[in-house]
Amino acid sequence: MVGHEIRRARPDDYDSIIGVVDNWWGRAAVHNLPRMFLDHFHRTSLVTSDDSGISGFLIGFGSPSDPHAAYVHFVAVRPDARKCGLGRTLYEAFFSIARSDNRTTVTAITSPANYTSIDFHRSLGFTVAGPVPDYNGPGRALVTFTRPV
Ligand SMILES: CC(C)(COP(=O)(O)OP(=O)(O)OC[C@H]1O[C@@H](n2cnc3c(N)ncnc32)[C@H](O)[C@@H]1OP(=O)(O)O)[C@@H](O)C(=O)NCCC(=O)NCCS
Repeated sequence: MVGHEIRRARPDDYDSIIGVVDNWWGRAAVHNLPRMFLDHFHRTSLVTSDDSGISGFLIGFGSPSDPHAAYVHFVAVRPDARKCGLGRTLYEAFFSIARSDNRTTVTAITSPANYTSIDFHRSLGFTVAGPVPDYNGPGRALVTFTRPV
């Protein structure tokens, strides 16, 4: 992406990321991103930045239990940098990491109300399923995304 650099995340990126998540999601999201994600999954997570600072991030990891699977927990792009391919760039870099770690499938989930996320993942070639009732407990339906890599 012109004007944006992409790199692997570092544990200390947490402090920058947690300061923007509510604004970038447009609602309270900090409770979904404890520090452990950056402490333990920074090798497989990615950060983009430009002259204004952090412009996007993707928090993902290979499953410790399923050697074929990788999972993306959070992906977001700064509002003024959206619709320019940065989200796609982050995902493609993650697919590359997943392939080099011998992962064959990437999955993610989102809330049924997050139409942007659903359209975004569909554009990236994910199979969209659901909403799956009670996915994360009673009354917590979620949409699932699956894509081979
Ligand atoms: C979802 C998000 C990461 C997309 O980032 P982005 O940089 O704008 O996405 P890109 O520009 O790389 O778009 C990639 C594809 O998704 C599609 N897309 C992106 N935003 C879209 C939207 N609002 N509506 C419909 N399609 C959209 C694009 O059309 C593009 O498809 P194409 O390449 O076939 O034209 C960004 O909107 C965001 O940060 N949203 C808030 C956080 C969030 O909801 N994250 C996802 C859940 S974890």
